[in-house]
Order: sequence, then structure tokens, then C-alpha cells
Amino acid sequence: MTTLTIMPAGKTVDAPEGASLLSLIGGGEPADHQCSDACHLFVLEGRKGLSKISPDENGKLDMIVGASSKSRYACMATVLGTEDVTVEVLSFV
Ligand code: FES
Repeated sequence: MTTLTIMPAGKTVDAPEGASLLSLIGGGEPADHQCSDACHLFVLEGRKGLSKISPDENGKLDMIVGASSKSRYACMATVLGTEDVTVEVLSFV
């Protein structure tokens, strides 16, 4: 079991393999979440502990202002369970 640290609050939660960042952060399950393109966050540490960016996610990230190489969508990134992850949440929950 790996750990997800959620900044700026510094909250930590258990992060089981296969869980979406969205469900761990508290935005609900991806299928239930109202998509507003607002689940963008930054992965500060442990990027390799998350699923690879799909072409769909990459395309969506290309269209938002302020995206960087650390950007992910919480509804599309799942935990691999290989290393701890730290994210910075912007405003979606
Ligand atoms: S909920 Fe729409 S991109 Fe994440």
C-alpha cells in the first residue's frame, strides 16, 4: 500500500493500487464526478507511481492554461502502488 499526500493541506491517505486520484482526494468516483475540466492538479513527487498519461488526457491537458509537465487530471490518473505520490490540488474539491 502506498500513500498519497495532498498539498497544500498536507493530508495523507492510503493509496491502493488501481484507485483514481479523484476518489482518494475526495471528489467522488470518476464516473460520478461532474466534469468541468477542473480536476487538474500537479504531481509534485512520485510521478512514476501513477498510470501513464493517455492520449485523451494529454489532449485535454494541451488545452488548459497553466498546465505543465507535472500536470495530471485526477479522474484519469490511477495509483500503480509502486511508490508514494504527492500532489498539489488546485480547486476542484
Ligand atoms: S472530471 Fe473531467 S477531466 Fe477530470
